Amino acid sequence: HTDRIIAPSLLAADWGRVTEEVCRAINSGADWLHLDVMDGHFVDNISFGPQMIQAIHESNDIFLDVHLMISRPDHYLPRFLACGADMITVHVEAEHNVSHTLAEIRKAGVLAGLALNPATPFEEVLPHLPHIDLLLPMTVVPGFGGQSFMQDMMSKVEAAAAFRQENGLNFHIEVDGGINAETAAIAAKAGANVLVAGSSSFGAQDMKAAITSMREA
Ligand code: DX5
Ligand code: ZN
Repeated sequence: HTDRIIAPSLLAADWGRVTEEVCRAINSGADWLHLDVMDGHFVDNISFGPQMIQAIHESNDIFLDVHLMISRPDHYLPRFLACGADMITVHVEAEHNVSHTLAEIRKAGVLAGLALNPATPFEEVLPHLPHIDLLLPMTVVPGFGGQSFMQDMMSKVEAAAAFRQENGLNFHIEVDGGINAETAAIAAKAGANVLVAGSSSFGAQDMKAAITSMREA
């Protein structure tokens, strides 16, 4: 995975104009659209669910990268598998049989991602690495946009990249939280190839310039 994938997070968009905002991201060069689903339980915020994702799916063709910050991804999985998601990322800390959930996602023909919170040691995801399409070491405590990038998490990115190399695996490494041109360069150097950006993309006056700078920094 050598080319950087830039994934603007809809959380930072103007929700009164969702379809226009998605078009703005696409026209600005976004590769993926990152969709943060929050249940008010796994994280201290509530966002949107599968109906919103379905509506976005029906309005365009961009790759939909769905990040489930919910306590019971297993319970809601059938609904998220049916809404047009291309990738579904679940948290290792949630209350579910992680291996089983990942297998169910792949069985449905959707790419499977696994996320870990800043407080969770990298070792917790080790047994799952041969069975995922993407690893997401969070670079903020999830729940809200606009927080500062935690550079300490780059040790997890580096460990994941090393494990991937040693074991001949091929999963993407994504970072999410506090990504801008400066931190994008740090994360990419550590081995991340998918860069999620909320505030620094949708919050920019010139989103195209913002995306280009994260791609090239
Ligand atoms: C955090 C979410 C992020 C968030 C990132 O809970 O998972 O995707 O939208 O926002 P920024 O880029 O503003 O840190
Ligand atoms: Zn996210």
